[in-house]
Amino acid sequence: AASVEHTFIVNQTKMARLCKETLVTVVNGQLPGPTIEVTEGDSVTVHVVNMSPYNVTIHWHGVKQFRNCWADGVPMITQCPITPNKNFTYQFDVIGQEGTLWWHAHVPGLRATLHGAFIIRPRNGAKSYPFPKPHKEIPVIIGDWWEKDLAEMAMNMTKSIFTSYASASTVNGLVGDLFNCSGVPKEGYVLDVEPGKTYLLRIINAGLFSEFYLKIAGHKFTVVAADANYVSPFTTDVIAVTPGETIDALLLADAPPGRYYMGAVPNQAPLPDTQTPEYATRGMVQYKVSQSASSDTTTVSLSQGTEEGGGYRGKSAEAPVVPKMPDIHDTITSFYFHSNLTGLRQKEHLPVQQKVNERLFIVLGLGTICKHGRQSCKRGNSTEDMLVATMNNVSYLHPEATTTPLLEAHYYHTGCNTTTEELPKRPPRFYNFTDEALIPFGPKEMRLEPTYKATLVRRFKHGDVVEIIFQSTGVLQGDSNPMHLHGHDMMVLAQGIGNYDPMKDVAKYNLVNPPLKNTVVAPNLGWVAIRFVANNPGVWFMHCHYEFHLSMGMAAVFIVEDGPTMDTSLPPPPVNFPTCSHDISLMPK
Ligand code: C2O
Repeated sequence: AASVEHTFIVNQTKMARLCKETLVTVVNGQLPGPTIEVTEGDSVTVHVVNMSPYNVTIHWHGVKQFRNCWADGVPMITQCPITPNKNFTYQFDVIGQEGTLWWHAHVPGLRATLHGAFIIRPRNGAKSYPFPKPHKEIPVIIGDWWEKDLAEMAMNMTKSIFTSYASASTVNGLVGDLFNCSGVPKEGYVLDVEPGKTYLLRIINAGLFSEFYLKIAGHKFTVVAADANYVSPFTTDVIAVTPGETIDALLLADAPPGRYYMGAVPNQAPLPDTQTPEYATRGMVQYKVSQSASSDTTTVSLSQGTEEGGGYRGKSAEAPVVPKMPDIHDTITSFYFHSNLTGLRQKEHLPVQQKVNERLFIVLGLGTICKHGRQSCKRGNSTEDMLVATMNNVSYLHPEATTTPLLEAHYYHTGCNTTTEELPKRPPRFYNFTDEALIPFGPKEMRLEPTYKATLVRRFKHGDVVEIIFQSTGVLQGDSNPMHLHGHDMMVLAQGIGNYDPMKDVAKYNLVNPPLKNTVVAPNLGWVAIRFVANNPGVWFMHCHYEFHLSMGMAAVFIVEDGPTMDTSLPPPPVNFPTCSHDISLMPK
């Protein structure tokens, strides 16, 4: 195994998009940030040099960090943040995982610009892919462009003030030709393909607020992996990818040589502030034409194209073909897309049949607390109420930066001056989906439970087999909830629309080849059932990957205790681990 080393300089720089320059916080001056490419088994060293005015941590999203929770990069849960003008070196091994993951800052708001792809290739090279060796491998990162100050936006979000959406969506950092001054190239992200060749697209949703649909006119995808776990291949013309999720898909360049738009449209949050007619953003797939043929395509007007399905067959000198995108309110396509994911590993390699030791039913909802407080106001005083997101009707309170990170408190058994509270076992109320929850902002008054904020934790014994039902209630704009667990992959047993019914839904469990995911989707007004084996000692964050939901408190912390032996226990922290000072805040001033 090799060692892979990177230096990440976190700094602010001006970037031009949408006809003006915006100050953005990025790694090494790049958006998206550098791609980390490793072979399974490699050790990774990343020197993070923080030249930005913010406190940062970098999280290696989906990397299991087995017995290495110290490198997980969650401020005040696994580490004190790296303060301005300080450095910290993350070190970890990548074991037993192959595919696409990503890295991102784990501080409010800043992951919109501090992120990049994390690619893990098999030890025995591309010949051990469970699919034909692709001609090229291409990261496709869907994200947002923000003209608003992200730090300020993040601050507002914790106060439930939702000031704005992104100004544009992006593919690999480019806004595309539906926007003015989209930059160079004008088409946005351009993927050059050779006829007959296969490309492995490593698709990442780094957006803060929305699930995306991705399509390429005239082409189909073969999905081969999700969250760095292989899946049984299936063919689709649309990819659904939630924030935090990664999808690997093969693209065969088998269309008549020409130019084809790729479109990425959000399906949940309303469209970005600067409206685009039909697509949130688009890029381009462009066939290389042979040297002798005329390849002058620059005279083509890009403002119009031919819709696919209209009998049009592309030629390079004609207008590119435009994909027909799902409706922006279509959530069912995502539901079906996610039900199509089945694992390539069979039950003999998965602990699906093991006895479940712990069952949790977690209702993802919305409640109210008093502004400026952590408790609910007296009932009826609605002007003083502030909305918070909840799990079983308690809203997660992130530990203050003046405390001891939870992992250190756990490791040294010191306790911490953060009051943690057990994640409530039973949901306080059950939603009736045929009634008010279906029309949360409808004519009936939205009934919100008064609640409070607490640092929710749940402890597991080493080796516990944990089953969780995440029940979404749709009270937050009717969104689905991409639930992300650090340090573990979850087997997705089943999903459904409406209320989970233990009497009949257990029969739907896939105990043969469930997909393994680090981010699972609790569908809009529906549920998802997962299991995981708590075998990675440490303190792991578990949260909705929508930034707004997370900031409002849809999160909890899972503590996995040490096992009986050295190699099932957490080793001591690395040297030069950051310490917390008393004058810092997780919120940029
Ligand atoms: Cu991708 Cu806790 O995050």
